[in-house]
Amino acid sequence: MSPGKAGVLRALLLIAVSIPAAFAADKPGKAAIASAHKLATEAGFEVLAAGGNAFDAAVAVSAALSVVEPQSSGIGGGAFFLIHRASDGKQVMVDARETAPAATDAKQYLDAKGDLDRDKSVNGALAAGIPGEAAALAFVAEHYGKLPLKKSLAPAIRLARKGFAPDTRSLMFLGLRKDVIARDPGATALFLPGGEVPKSGWVLKNPDLAHTLELIADKGHDGFYKGEFAKKLVAGVAKMGGNWNLEDLASYQVREREPIVFPYRGHTIVTAPPPSSGGIALAEMLNILQGYDLAKLDRVARTHLVVEAMRRAYRDRAEYLGDPDFVKMPVAELTSPLYAAGLRASIHPKKATPSDSLPGFMAPVQGTDTTHFSIIDADGNLAAVTQTVNLPYGAAVVVPGTGFLLNNEMDDFALKAGVPNAFGLVGGDANAPKPGRRPLSSMTPSFVIGPERTLVIGTPGGSRIITMVLEGILAWFDGDAPQQLVDNKRFHHQFLPDVISIEKDTFSLDERKALQEMGHMLSEGERPWGFMNAVDWNRKSGEVRGGSDSRGVSGTALVK
Ligand code: DON
Repeated sequence: MSPGKAGVLRALLLIAVSIPAAFAADKPGKAAIASAHKLATEAGFEVLAAGGNAFDAAVAVSAALSVVEPQSSGIGGGAFFLIHRASDGKQVMVDARETAPAATDAKQYLDAKGDLDRDKSVNGALAAGIPGEAAALAFVAEHYGKLPLKKSLAPAIRLARKGFAPDTRSLMFLGLRKDVIARDPGATALFLPGGEVPKSGWVLKNPDLAHTLELIADKGHDGFYKGEFAKKLVAGVAKMGGNWNLEDLASYQVREREPIVFPYRGHTIVTAPPPSSGGIALAEMLNILQGYDLAKLDRVARTHLVVEAMRRAYRDRAEYLGDPDFVKMPVAELTSPLYAAGLRASIHPKKATPSDSLPGFMAPVQGTDTTHFSIIDADGNLAAVTQTVNLPYGAAVVVPGTGFLLNNEMDDFALKAGVPNAFGLVGGDANAPKPGRRPLSSMTPSFVIGPERTLVIGTPGGSRIITMVLEGILAWFDGDAPQQLVDNKRFHHQFLPDVISIEKDTFSLDERKALQEMGHMLSEGERPWGFMNAVDWNRKSGEVRGGSDSRGVSGTALVK
């Protein structure tokens, strides 16, 4: 099925989604920050108290998370900063996704038999794209913040220098990645004192990372991407078997992307455009679901329809999406209500559509690590930021003297067409690794803006990110508060394998039976997934609320 043409509808949509100026004027008067770590949430409030806005706070939280949650994100990784500026309603996504180095050659990731060598795609310097995080911090501070980087990076620098006790989640992931970390002297020196995973209570001091952050604070973007520091990175990466050059770093720039924007039930959804697949998939799913009165349906009928919407959106993800600077994508068509109406018509109200009866391809997924935080400030500025080094502790290598792990984002490319990546995702030409390209992401930082209420939402979780954001938004429309919607049990379908993954106790036995009778296969995982952080604001009541997923250990939502 190919996406229909929807030029006229698109024009109407653009009119429908422009935000009334009146909204820009009112203010919450309070701020809310929900992040995966108490120290990061506090860093954000410290910067707000120093006169910063939501975007200064976002820089502070982002940098602090890169210190206290090294398994999830860091200066060696990338990020998407979704921004809504209250003063003029400007909305933009700062895309600080990693890029493939010039020396990228898909053959480097294959073994002698021509099969994908997973060890090369996820472990070691060859797995690392050119990092975007430092560029994001400098760019967001300069273009959207009120404070100098020195102020907004101060809490992160202090945390790196004075140290903090990594939480049990951090240590658990360290255990999972220990063998790979142990191969690299730089990473071992930082994370495995005495060659072992430390016990709870151990304090991680990282003066090298404090230095790196100070360099960015002093010199901005160029402090990281040019000069002596860039030389150190290139030489260090070469020593570890990777191949970056000075130009890869010197030419790195964030991109400002127009968000995917569409109406849903009287609200405007603002979400991540390519190189994220999240916004397009979210638009496809919500456009399909707009055609049903979900609130009137029982849980089984509703889950069936949501799963069928997921199945169809994930099929298109693998087929069409990639880096917008390199690949032409039918974005308007995929996100048009007309296309969704066609997909809706193919859904049987009582029977699962077998995935193998639909064209396309895709495969299984495992959520591991990444991080998302949500901010509303007292003026109504919004920031939704998802940032990552990809798998826990990224590529598990540290260039000595830098204090941060390199990402393993190269594995988010379709390194070999049709062969699943670490999340079980497959792809083809649209997401093939090429010099300078950004690998397709599932990170979906999002806003839902309505006449009365606004939600800021996102989560880690690999390809499950998109369905988690969908379920969070649906729950919010049902009346769930942020804490409730982040804690809800989850289900996920991604076309292939043709199975609904569920967390423990998501459905009762009767509900499971009813879904199975409709033709759905269910698979209950051992572990919960995601670490969602959301905040909302009700203009009518003045209430500002936050919620941090209780699946996380140190997640903290505060309102002040
Ligand atoms: O950009 C992406 O889609 C992945 N690198 C995100 C990885 C992730 O969420 C791992 N998390 N739980």
